[in-house]
Amino acid sequence: MKIKFSDAASGDAVAAAVFDGRTLSEPAKALDAATGGALSKAMKASRFKGGAGDLLEISAPNGVDADRIVLFGAGKKADLTANGIEKAVAGLVKSLLTGGAKTVSIHLEGVTDEEGVGRAGLGARLAAYRFDKYRTKLSDDKKPSLGSVEIVVDDVKAAKAAWKSWGAVADGVDLARDLVMEAPNVLGPEEYARRCKGLDKLGLEVEVLGEKEMKKLGMGALLGVGQGSVQESQMVIMKWNGAKASDQPVCFVGKGVTFDTGGISLKPAQGMDEMKGDMGGSAAVVGAMAALAGRKAKVNAVGVIGLVENMPDGNAQRPGDIVTSMSGQTIEVLNTDAEGRLVLADALWYAQKEFDPKFMVNLATLTGAILIALGQEHAGIFSNNDELADNLFKAGKASDETVWRFPLGPEYDRQIDSPIADMKNIGEGRNAGSITAGQFLQRFVNDKPWCHIDIAGVGMNASSKDPRNPLFGTGYGVRLLDRLVRDYYEA
Ligand code: BES
Ligand code: MN
Ligand code: ZN
Repeated sequence: MKIKFSDAASGDAVAAAVFDGRTLSEPAKALDAATGGALSKAMKASRFKGGAGDLLEISAPNGVDADRIVLFGAGKKADLTANGIEKAVAGLVKSLLTGGAKTVSIHLEGVTDEEGVGRAGLGARLAAYRFDKYRTKLSDDKKPSLGSVEIVVDDVKAAKAAWKSWGAVADGVDLARDLVMEAPNVLGPEEYARRCKGLDKLGLEVEVLGEKEMKKLGMGALLGVGQGSVQESQMVIMKWNGAKASDQPVCFVGKGVTFDTGGISLKPAQGMDEMKGDMGGSAAVVGAMAALAGRKAKVNAVGVIGLVENMPDGNAQRPGDIVTSMSGQTIEVLNTDAEGRLVLADALWYAQKEFDPKFMVNLATLTGAILIALGQEHAGIFSNNDELADNLFKAGKASDETVWRFPLGPEYDRQIDSPIADMKNIGEGRNAGSITAGQFLQRFVNDKPWCHIDIAGVGMNASSKDPRNPLFGTGYGVRLLDRLVRDYYEA
């Protein structure tokens, strides 16, 4: 989807906002006048009241340049936020995507700030996302007709500058979504690492560790997970150097299980296909790194992702195996399906040791239990540092990728202590399943400010009603991490 900015509408569809109680925005008033009151009449004849997300489309009468006019509800004018603009534009674009219009011109009355304009463009891009590469028989009239979105603003130059920044975020989200959507026979650890390598074109420094290198580093926890796969496990390290060399980097770490069968502790068949998305945490890291590089953020950032495939096999790890992590701590693997924490244990330890970052944030589709607790509306966060957790909470509100904090504490350690190793990889029974996973991860973090984000609920969502989300791979985390950096850690 092409995003353009202009000071006059030229599209075959024209859209303007209506606020609560059928209050027309100025551009909507002008359109109403140009159509001889056709819009007012159409509103009266319908239930459209201008509530957030409401849409009303009419065919433009003769004498008007455009073919169709769409009114989009923007709710209470005084309450309109950047999130609201983003979502309203997304709803509008989604409804027009395959309907025949080629270009929609959207009037943004009163939205002049950099963020409002940028987020309007972002909303359009989020709604336009499709994963059609394998649909060879899609007929022409099922394909998107809408090729561009023209945002009508007063200051075109300022809008274009804003889009340099927010367009990079849209690119990062697209990238993350493509990775999550991709079929697991195509996107194994090796292909995934190759795709990351290609991001050097954005100015990222990308390094890939193979099994030989990881063995040398002592990453027995991560390697154990991948040992049943015919594909080599990989670790990808991405660096963005946007600040002075002496600045400590921020660090993002991601779980990249390209397919999670559960291993020998095999998952049930029903819905197992969704476990192609078990690399969603790593995809968020890759997308966020791409966004930071794309908008030339003034920050030093490191992304570390652990890529493995969890398969049952003659060489797969068994329940009962004891592995030694890079930290030296030993882990009794009582359930091979609790594999994400094993991957992250070595990735976190490596990141902390190698880069001495300012803080670490890891993202992972870690536990089914987080879905029981929060559903698909919030991600769960777990942290050893109030400031970092608060910043993430606020960045979540600002980006509309929201989070909710859970406790950690030594009282949960009892559940993961093992009588024959330093720890076991599952708790006792199902109680506090997401917390015991977080408590496990914390054992691989020293004094560093750290936050774990469990995105098992929000990273894959096949039933989202939010027009900004496609079905399944949401790309959750890219906007959140970008926002965290933007608001709190950029020079
Ligand atoms: N990848 C899963 C978690 C998951 C479940 C993600 C549902 C998305 C949707 C993870 O590796 C896993 O299998 N966790 C187990 C842990 C248990 C064995 C302690 C779980 O949540 O059941
Ligand atoms: Mn698992
Ligand atoms: Zn998993």
